[in-house]
Formats: sequence, C-alpha cells, structure tokens
Amino acid sequence: MLLAPWRSPLSRALHRNRSLPNARYFQLATVRSNGHPANRTVVFRGFASDSDRLQMVTDTRSQKVDQIGNLGWSEICWYFPKTREQFRLNGSLILVRPDEPEDEAQERRSQIWQSLSDNARSQFGWPHPGTPRSEHSSFEVQPLDPKSPPDTFCILMLEPVWVDHLELRGDPQDRTVYERNALDSWSVQSVHP
Ligand SMILES: Cc1cc2nc3c(=O)[nH]c(=O)nc-3n(C[C@H](O)[C@H](O)[C@H](O)COP(=O)(O)O)c2cc1C
Repeated sequence: MLLAPWRSPLSRALHRNRSLPNARYFQLATVRSNGHPANRTVVFRGFASDSDRLQMVTDTRSQKVDQIGNLGWSEICWYFPKTREQFRLNGSLILVRPDEPEDEAQERRSQIWQSLSDNARSQFGWPHPGTPRSEHSSFEVQPLDPKSPPDTFCILMLEPVWVDHLELRGDPQDRTVYERNALDSWSVQSVHP
C-alpha cells in the first residue's frame, strides 16, 4: 500500500519526539448529540497494518463511543513539543467492537489487548465510566485475562481525509494541508500559516 503523503512528516515527528512519552498523546474531538463539541486526551496505539488509520483503545461504555455510533466524524489535534509542530487530522472514526465479524480486525483487537499493561487492562473491569462514584472496593477487580479481551474493550480508528501540518520553527512558519480526493489520492498544498 502507498502511504499517504502526510505519513512521512508524522513519522519524523514521532521519531524526533520519541524521548517524550507525552508526545504519544493527542486530543480527539467528537460532537455530542446536542451539537456541542466534546474533546479528550487519548494514547496513540500505532497505525492499523496496511492502512493510514490511526488506532486508539477505549471503553465501549464511554461517551465517545455513544457519540460516534459505528461511524462518525472526528478531529485529532496532536502537538509535538520538541519539534514544535502540530498535526490536525480530520476524518471518520471506525469502531472495532467486541462483536466485529471481520477476523483481521478481531485479531488486531486481541493483539493490542495483550500488549497493554495489567494496570491498563484492569481499567476495563472498573465500574461504568461517567456514573456516580461508588465505594473503593468496586475498583478491586481480578486481573483480566491477557488472552481474551472483555466486551468493554474496543479499538477506535481514525481514517484521515484532511490533515493540516503546522511547523512553528520556520520564519515564516510552514503550514501544509493534505486533502484526500475522490480517487483516494492526496492533494498537498503549502498555505499561509
Ligand atoms: C494522558 C491521558 C491519556 C488517556 N488515554 C486514554 C485512552 O487511550 N483511551 C481512552 O479511552 N481514554 C483515555 N484517557 C481518558 C480520556 O481523556 C477521557 O477522560 C475518557 O476516555 C472519557 O471520555 P469520554 O467520556 O469523552 O468518552 C486518557 C486521559 C489522559 C489524561
């Protein structure tokens, strides 16, 4: 597969910021049912193989999952402090649910589940996110089986159709907009910052 042209500057940013664990966090915006924006921080979990889809993991009970249904629009905003550059990636969000029929997607869901730490896994056994807090004992869950992801665990993937890359370092700054066209090729345009 031919990678989208914004993949190379994004890989470079990830590489140059690799000493900063926080550089793998980005903000993921969605739209609430009342039309208001919603935004939160999530961890980048790599690209789905043979695609330009960015992967994240989340709880199927979380509000972001309700906000997208099975497919919704979203924007990621990602700042790399060391190289002082920002990527805004706009596209559709695709959910790999526990009952996803496609084998390859289920395989990926299992692989990512296995790669998480015990601590990260145990959160998926916690009480329902966003509901009033109950007593401490409800957080004392047995370690979850690394071989079998629970129904609360899902993968979210963002498939970008528009990417805006801003580099603060230049004088003047550099800003490039990438847009996917109908033929699945990309246009690349340098624009004023
Ligand atoms: C540094 C950091 C990393 C986070 N990573 C994730 C993540 O990878 N997945 C996730 O679902 N929530 C993550 N969260 C929690 C979310 O920001 C958010 O609070 C939670 O998912 C509930 O969001 P929602 O109600 O909009 O669904 C992270 C929070 C922080 C501060």
